[in-house]
Amino acid sequence: MCGIVGCILDNEVAPTIIESIKKLEYRGYDSVGIATVTDKINVKKGSGKIKEVDDEIQLTEIDGNIGIAHVRWATHGNPTRENAHPHNSCDNKVSVVHNGIIENYKELKQELQLEGHVFKSETDTEVIPHLIEKYMKEGNNLLKSTQLTIKKLVGSYALAVISTEEPDKIIGARKESPLIVGVSDKGNFLASDVPAILNETRQVIYLEDNEIIQLEKDKVTIMDNNLNPIEKEITTIDWNPEMAEKGGYPHFMLKEINEEPQVIRDTLSESPKIKEIVSKFKNFNRICFVACGTSYHASLIGEYLIETQLHIPTEVILASEFEYFQNTLDNHTLVIFITQSGETADTIQALKTAKKISETLAIVNVVGSTITREAHHVIYTRAGPEIGVAATKTYLSQLICIYLLVAHLKEDEELIQKLYSIPELAEESIKREEQIIEIAKKYKTAKDFFYIGRGFNYPTALEGALKLKEITYIHAEGYPAGELKHGPLALIEDGIPVVGILPPGSSYAKTFNNLQEIRARGAHMIILGADNDTQIDDVHDKLLFNPVVDELIAPLIYIIDLQLLSYHISVQKEIDPDKPKNLAKSVTVV
Ligand code: AGP
Repeated sequence: MCGIVGCILDNEVAPTIIESIKKLEYRGYDSVGIATVTDKINVKKGSGKIKEVDDEIQLTEIDGNIGIAHVRWATHGNPTRENAHPHNSCDNKVSVVHNGIIENYKELKQELQLEGHVFKSETDTEVIPHLIEKYMKEGNNLLKSTQLTIKKLVGSYALAVISTEEPDKIIGARKESPLIVGVSDKGNFLASDVPAILNETRQVIYLEDNEIIQLEKDKVTIMDNNLNPIEKEITTIDWNPEMAEKGGYPHFMLKEINEEPQVIRDTLSESPKIKEIVSKFKNFNRICFVACGTSYHASLIGEYLIETQLHIPTEVILASEFEYFQNTLDNHTLVIFITQSGETADTIQALKTAKKISETLAIVNVVGSTITREAHHVIYTRAGPEIGVAATKTYLSQLICIYLLVAHLKEDEELIQKLYSIPELAEESIKREEQIIEIAKKYKTAKDFFYIGRGFNYPTALEGALKLKEITYIHAEGYPAGELKHGPLALIEDGIPVVGILPPGSSYAKTFNNLQEIRARGAHMIILGADNDTQIDDVHDKLLFNPVVDELIAPLIYIIDLQLLSYHISVQKEIDPDKPKNLAKSVTVV
């Protein structure tokens, strides 16, 4: 779960490459490093975020027209300077950046050490430059040596390699970690993700597993793992660089929340495509959702919708637990994978198993990501690049796709029309920001939070709690409203904040009673409900919504206020909400 960049230009490469790697900082911020090739390999690297390292050692002050760079999310070895990429061979003629995990690195390291190689880091990656060095010393060129090296590797990798022996090229390779190529008149690029190259080009080639690439200033050669050249299509990306910038907001997360009304509009425009995909489904009598984290919460809402609206047996499985449930899949099960990144390792693994037995659909944000190439059908969520680690606009776009899917399966024109009112209602949520800031100030020192909802709005309670945990480090729990009396009510005490999700609808009366039970134990109630609801007058804090937002569509609106609440508590606590500790945007390890 790291980010890599490689770049060849006519002029000094460092300023461009550092700007590119900054766009990938969402993939890891434990350390950063750059290597360029002149008559020698030049390396600058350090632990910490790019800005901190740059202030200390001026990353752009390094010569060379060809370079590679890396941001790290530590897996093997602590986030120290020694473990920061790039890693070099013993003779310092080869330098490598890597995203992924080399599972057999211990055996390889032992073999190489016995042959006299000296290792400087605790990383799995360092075996790669030493292996390449070994094959080059046997008389192979850089491309062949990289090919021979990857044949020895077990695990996942996206690689970029440079060498003083061939100072006019970068060799790249991918297996189970994302890697794209950017082509332009100014030069050519390799990167883990599209935002890294958007300032330079929108012409992109998506690499597949087991492909190897040779990048030169005016030439890009893509090969299979036997080095046979292959033709690849160039895709023009319609994201512009500004879409990947903060656009004047203090944080990406706030920008991305503010983009939600437009994202909902854009995703609604996928309705005809979703209708077409629905018409292609084979016969199925059961639906299974597979996802992680926020995408799992979107899936839970899908389960409530499908069970209540379509009466089709549905279950939701966490991707990391999928292997324990896979035995009941059959060719009458439709398996739906939800993932914003399309690169979540747990989800990819589950999809690879499921597609052998069942029809699969993926709901994904990142075009060309691994999952889009594995699933039988793909729906794109049209959220644009999401840089903040906390999923916000991608969650809303996933929900819109799920609602459209259900509406088309049910041929429910009324529901489709209702969805077209969501963007305006979402704008009303964003206008409540000042009020939410006041609530955030009041509760920023809380140690625990509870989020309570029922039916369609129980997953919103889970997602509200996850957002709070993730970016404020406050302990938070989401519960179905009726479940507290079976245990968690023992935790309720004077002053504990409880967020009650109380939209109008059939679940209202029972949820209201459950919230009364909690209130009676001294909790501070923050109620989200309809602005014509006279019963919620007497609570500590309230966020009031248009009464047309009933329990069925409330998951599409109420969560926006909860995202803003978490964001503002995070800011009040002086935490960077875009980069919560220990987390990364794209979780490419199992
Ligand atoms: C959400 O805020 C989290 N960053 C996380 O739970 C995320 O939703 C999860 O890792 C799944 O990611 P995906 O949607 O890219 O598969």
